[in-house]
Amino acid sequence: MDQEQTVTGKSILRVDGPQKVRGEAKYAAEYNIPDLLHAYVVTASIAKGRILSIDLAAARRFPGVVEVLSHKNRPWFWPVSFLYKDAAGPPGKPFVPLDDDRVYFSGQPVALVIAENYEAARDAAALVKVTYKAEQHTTDLAASTAFKPRKRRIGVAPVPHPTGDADLAFAVAPLKIESTYTTSPENHHPMELFATTVKWGKIVTVYDKTQSPKSVELFLKVAFRLIGRKVRVVSTYVGGAFGLGLRPQQSVFLAVMAAKALERSVRLVLPRDHMFALGYRANAVQTVSLAADEQGRLQAVRHRAVAATSQFEDAQDPMLLFSASLYRCNNIKLTYELAKLDTVSPCDMRAPGAATGMFALESAMDELAYVLDMDPLALRLTNYTERDQSENRPFSSKALRECYALGSERFGWHKRSRAPRSMREDKELIGWGMATGAWEAAMSPAPARAKVMVRSDGKFEVTSSITDIGTGTYTILSQIAADTLETTMDRVVIRLGDSALPFNPIQGGSWTAATSGAAVQSACRKLKSTIRSRAKHTGVLGRGQGAELLSASALIDLLKLQRGRKLSATATMFSFPFGKKFSSATHAAVFAEVRVDEELSVVRVTRIVCAVAAGRILNPNTARSQIIGATVMGIGKALHEDAAYDHNLGRCMAHGFADYHIPTNADVYDIDVVFVDETDAEVSPLGVKGVGEIGVVAVAPAIANAIFHATGERMRHLPITIDRLA
Ligand code: MOS
Repeated sequence: MDQEQTVTGKSILRVDGPQKVRGEAKYAAEYNIPDLLHAYVVTASIAKGRILSIDLAAARRFPGVVEVLSHKNRPWFWPVSFLYKDAAGPPGKPFVPLDDDRVYFSGQPVALVIAENYEAARDAAALVKVTYKAEQHTTDLAASTAFKPRKRRIGVAPVPHPTGDADLAFAVAPLKIESTYTTSPENHHPMELFATTVKWGKIVTVYDKTQSPKSVELFLKVAFRLIGRKVRVVSTYVGGAFGLGLRPQQSVFLAVMAAKALERSVRLVLPRDHMFALGYRANAVQTVSLAADEQGRLQAVRHRAVAATSQFEDAQDPMLLFSASLYRCNNIKLTYELAKLDTVSPCDMRAPGAATGMFALESAMDELAYVLDMDPLALRLTNYTERDQSENRPFSSKALRECYALGSERFGWHKRSRAPRSMREDKELIGWGMATGAWEAAMSPAPARAKVMVRSDGKFEVTSSITDIGTGTYTILSQIAADTLETTMDRVVIRLGDSALPFNPIQGGSWTAATSGAAVQSACRKLKSTIRSRAKHTGVLGRGQGAELLSASALIDLLKLQRGRKLSATATMFSFPFGKKFSSATHAAVFAEVRVDEELSVVRVTRIVCAVAAGRILNPNTARSQIIGATVMGIGKALHEDAAYDHNLGRCMAHGFADYHIPTNADVYDIDVVFVDETDAEVSPLGVKGVGEIGVVAVAPAIANAIFHATGERMRHLPITIDRLA
């Protein structure tokens, strides 16, 4: 920034914290509207086939029930899958609820009960009788055929081209490993359930849990031909969203369908067990082959991934994103394939692709280190690269070396004895493992806009349609605005998460700070110069002053002199993804300590040090929270999360937190987060690179590597449950 900073870079507490703690922050299911109806979804009990008959009579008779909709009596909607492509959608035909009689996955909505209250809708849903003609299904990745996917979506780098001759180099290299790693599907379970409250009227106000109010607005307008009406999508607060809210969800589609059919206001809150059929982190089978010379220099990297997708879309997690660029190597071969399953489409989930792909790559690096009898960190440093070889260009910044140095020092890595099973305390084997993390650093490929205006009380109001999904967006935008406007944060009012506000892209990809933050900064700069020139023009306020011109009283005076004209400025931030001279990524080095009970095989992750290089850190407090949360998610990926299927039924067996395990407080010990100094002039005018996803990437491999060090057992499947270790 070109002026003295007073709040940016400081650990400011969340500006929305008090509202959240007091229960004043309203979430999508909390808007109370007179005469509100409540909806409940009836889901398919088979994985594949057709609906033969659907008997709604008993449900209709249930006291309090207003209507029951199925594919037969639903209101008309456009064939939306052909007309609208959401920003995060993969190639294929998006799933549309109650479209026709086809069943694509177990848990798919087949009917919607709408009643005067939630309980009536839920109870009546059990009375809907559906008969099916079931077809042979498969939900087992191991039993399905791999194919090359259609061209992947915009905004995600393609699988890097092969370089050199990896097959030959691997064949002739003296030291090598080749291993296959498998991961389980994981489901999204943010604290807030997916929910929509639709206020029907001339203006259709849709309170929705989403990461993109603008895409939901466009989707609804297209789908339901609400072009003549005003549609406003509001997501002022979002109780966690890690990718499941990037695309317009089934819930918002169904809620608006019901509201349109009945011309009434409707709320739909999905129960926890329905969340298992919305999308998942694709499970995958990956084989990594690494070869090195005696000094540990990589001679060949081969990485093949086969990932799950649905029958109707080629969902693609960029699992190979860093396999060609993280380490120096001249012979690289990457293969990415999909296999179709009778499930809902997989979707993005925090560091999509990278979190899965890097588990394989970083486990393989650890295996190679043992073949070489080399320290795992030394192996990474031996193969450190200052250039992105896959794109043949330098990094805009890369402080990964500093991450290794600072992280290993805080962890005490040099005290590690290399041999497996060489560290113990009483009945527990102690293991220390490490892994590298990387994630893309970029501004959004779609533009972000922001508006700032002077209010009649002399405060500045900043507006943007971007959501705050719990990451701290309200706070960092307040900081940026306050510093740019040379004022204090109490004079800045931020309004977000409303499609009526200036256009912003989906809140995802860890690009919000870089993109929407830069738009706010630019709008504030414009406003400042507008104020200066207007003040000069009116001649009343003194010329050329600095900060006093931006004081509340001066601005109130200026507004009066303007006779009703507003003092405001709007800015648009574009990023140019093409022809870039640099590659950009955030990096992390994660060091983990595990203690494994030798008799019971219980694993405790007693210590994690996570050193992160993510450019400029706008707010160490909120940034640190992002990394801690992501680390906990990584512990879950390593040890707990498994959306296990009964392949016979083709159905996910988990229904809630009793059987879908995530880490609890008792599973989380010491997490030490440290940011290394890094400046980056290329990613964003703000100098930031984003911190939402980098925290999760290296955690699972670091834990798996620590478990090997503790026990001598190489764990190549996630999650690592007791039965696998015993
Ligand atoms: Mo993130 S997976 O872009 O919500």
